[in-house]
Amino acid sequence: MKVLVTGATGLLGSRMLKVFPSDWEVTGAYHSRPVPGMVECSLGNSGSVLCAIEEGDCEWVVHCAAIRSPDVCAKDPRQAMEINARGTERVARAAAKAGARLAYVSTDYVFSGEAPPYKEDDAPSPLNAYGHSKLAGERHALAMPGALVVRIPALYSLDPEAPNNVLAALKTSLEEGESVPADDRCVRYYTLAGEVAAAFAFLMGMGHRGLVHVSAGQSSTKLEFLRAAADAMGLDSALVLSAGPRPSAADRPHDSHLDTGLYASLGGPPLTGYRGAIERLKKA
Ligand SMILES: NC(=O)c1ccc[n+]([C@@H]2O[C@H](COP(=O)([O-])OP(=O)(O)OC[C@H]3O[C@@H](n4cnc5c(N)ncnc54)[C@H](OP(=O)(O)O)[C@@H]3O)[C@@H](O)[C@H]2O)c1
Repeated sequence: MKVLVTGATGLLGSRMLKVFPSDWEVTGAYHSRPVPGMVECSLGNSGSVLCAIEEGDCEWVVHCAAIRSPDVCAKDPRQAMEINARGTERVARAAAKAGARLAYVSTDYVFSGEAPPYKEDDAPSPLNAYGHSKLAGERHALAMPGALVVRIPALYSLDPEAPNNVLAALKTSLEEGESVPADDRCVRYYTLAGEVAAAFAFLMGMGHRGLVHVSAGQSSTKLEFLRAAADAMGLDSALVLSAGPRPSAADRPHDSHLDTGLYASLGGPPLTGYRGAIERLKKA
């Protein structure tokens, strides 16, 4: 199978390039960080998107690229819509023109977090500009026949080489003796990015279409997660400090737990809870 992955220089896209089956021909697309062998793709430019997708000559376009920081999106909601929503519309149109199917990466932030767990047909109600822009992106993706849309929660990786990874940032700060503020209120379901990539491969391989929720099942706050990871890496977890949201931070859902019953019923590979992953980190 020939696949183009947008956002291949990011956390999830880079895992897709590693995890997708070796008999798939996978091409990555970058935006600001050129990588030899990848194609350039700027979501703000229809010509660039079409060019990348035609150059990729693929059966599937996996659309990972996005502005994924809720705080960045809150500062410039128009830009968030332009890249995350209109950019997805451009990708969907170009994929349709090239005869490729679309797999779109969405988020649990399409929900308000007030009534978890959320099933695929529960009504979305985003709290922030990021959630609104990703939900608008979903709608553009789902307008394309045969599209797959997967909602996922907060990601991380145990691979020290993985880009934009919360654990690598934690390690760097703690090794330098810096304290790390972490939210102790919102409930999160930290999920390994590599396992999400494997879930995409499974769903694409079976030709699934429509919305699916994919998530690990164990809950924690960011504080609990980062302290456990710090201990596992032999670093000083006392430097991870309980903190409320920064005054400038975008609103975030309190608990946007995704119900994964549909994914389980399809026979999707199970995802490791954060405690199991932390055990692996200890052994490493
Ligand atoms: N990470 C999470 O916790 C999380 C949780 C839920 C959902 N998601 C979703 O998962 C997807 C992947 O997230 P991620 O964590 O891998 O993000 P990431 O590490 O921040 O990477 C973002 C990627 O998007 C590309 N990109 C950014 N702006 C672009 C533009 N204007 N045109 C083209 N490409 C652009 C970047 O390319 P360059 O680096 O080359 O500029 C990079 O490859 C996103 O759709 C995000 O909404 C992520």
